[in-house]
Amino acid sequence: MADYKMEIKNICCIGAGYVGGPTMAVIAHQCPHIKVTIVDMNVARINAWNDENLDNLPVYEPGLSEIVAGSRGKNLFFSTDVDKGIREAEMIFISVNTPTKTYGKGKGMAADLKFIELCARKIAEVANSDKIIVEKSTLPVRTAEALKSILENSGNNVRYHILSNPEFLAEGTAIEDLLNPDRVLIGGEDKDAVDSLVEIYSNWVSSEKILTTNLWSSELSKLTANAFLAQRVSSINAISELCEKTEADVNEVSKAIGMDSRIGPKFLKASVGFGGSCFQKDILNLVYIARSYGLQEVAAYWEQVIIMNDHQKRRFAERIVQTLFNTVSGKKIAFLGWAFKKDTNDTRESAAIYVADYLLNEEAELVVYDPKVTAEQVYADLDYLNTRDASLNRKLVRIVNDPYEACNQAHGIAILTEWDEFNAYDWEKINKNMKRPAFIFDGRSALNKEELRQTGFEVYSIGSSNVGI
Ligand code: NAD
Ligand code: UDX
Repeated sequence: MADYKMEIKNICCIGAGYVGGPTMAVIAHQCPHIKVTIVDMNVARINAWNDENLDNLPVYEPGLSEIVAGSRGKNLFFSTDVDKGIREAEMIFISVNTPTKTYGKGKGMAADLKFIELCARKIAEVANSDKIIVEKSTLPVRTAEALKSILENSGNNVRYHILSNPEFLAEGTAIEDLLNPDRVLIGGEDKDAVDSLVEIYSNWVSSEKILTTNLWSSELSKLTANAFLAQRVSSINAISELCEKTEADVNEVSKAIGMDSRIGPKFLKASVGFGGSCFQKDILNLVYIARSYGLQEVAAYWEQVIIMNDHQKRRFAERIVQTLFNTVSGKKIAFLGWAFKKDTNDTRESAAIYVADYLLNEEAELVVYDPKVTAEQVYADLDYLNTRDASLNRKLVRIVNDPYEACNQAHGIAILTEWDEFNAYDWEKINKNMKRPAFIFDGRSALNKEELRQTGFEVYSIGSSNVGI
């Protein structure tokens, strides 16, 4: 058996997305003695990572461009040469997408592992020396078993050790999360292989924060962490609806319960619903796994988190229609924010998409402003739903670069993302240029509703009693 606690000099990461890019950039930054190569089959994405203009990196994250600028071309490389990347590395991270299946068995629930399998087959095909394979993607519990089976049956005498090292970064704070993680989780069977990865993180993470477990605990912990976080959001969103009926204020309730040290203050912000590429996908996967083991009650328990989230998005959209005198047909609604949270250009599963779709079905006309999301992305998100003709989406939805233009002559403004800059706007000026009454629907309770009311707005804020609206 080879000595797997080999010194790692070359790392390859397959997948240059929201996780692969920032994660590997930070490893390269913290470990100048290791050469890190990120490979991807998406040529445009790799070109963007290599773009001299750092504003063109494919992922927007505060602090990311500085980290990339410091290491790129020194010990951080982006390439489409997947085979070479695999051959040169002693350790290979797999960081490809694992979306919800859109076909066949498990459609709409299970994780689609075809990209993971393709990576394993590619490694098995081209590797000519022993490798440590690290699962960085979020995977169903017991995926390592399948990976192992593919790799070990390649018949080329290369030996593999598989580790699970799920990523806990949140978008918008990815660099901070990677530099100062709450914990790093490493699951594996072989102590030497585990130690090789521990050694890499030890360059900047203290040993008490590096947790080692068996493979299956590590895989399942990632799904569980996301399920718990999303559950908190659905829990407070459920209470937000009750607040609106009872003159309680959800922000006050959040504060009051969050001061209980057993509950804690984080992840208690009521919203128009959680989005992002992870929460829904990972909970659906958890539900699917539970069902596949015949655990109906467990599955139903977690499924409710998604049901509540869908309800929250829908009731926000319904509220807009109802408030605008039960019709938005031909009315202009300004959308401030499209990203699924602030400080990211990522729109995957953003609540904005579903609220927009609902309003478009009601024949509203939308004008969208988001500081980081492109017009192409907004259209791609709406087209993907396949609810109406792409040409109709382009007719009914306009994307602008100026928030004041977005709100000009609007019947209502909907806040879909909690971008900080929204608080700095001249709301008096915006109010003057709107149709009367001037409505604001704050899906993030991000703005100061009292000030807005004094300015002349009719304000609906999620989780507040909203007297008079
Ligand atoms: P992503 O879609 O942004 O990036 C994945 C990349 O992998 C794409 O660029 C794609 O072209 C590439 N790819 C797919 N198959 C490939 C192959 N066979 N060969 C080469 N390249 C290939 O996805 P992401 O958001 O970075 O997520 C990756 C994984 O990390 C997922 O499992 C996700 O659940 C998990 N995760 C994501 C986050 C997050 O915040 N986005 C956080 C933690 C974990
Ligand atoms: C999440 C997990 O936090 C992270 O650990 C994991 O690695 C990937 O999935 P992410 O989806 O990037 O990260 O962002 P997160 O901050 O968790 O927000 C997810 C969604 O929940 C966003 O739409 C956000 O606006 C919403 N949210 C979050 C709330 O509505 N209220 C809150 O209190 C917190």
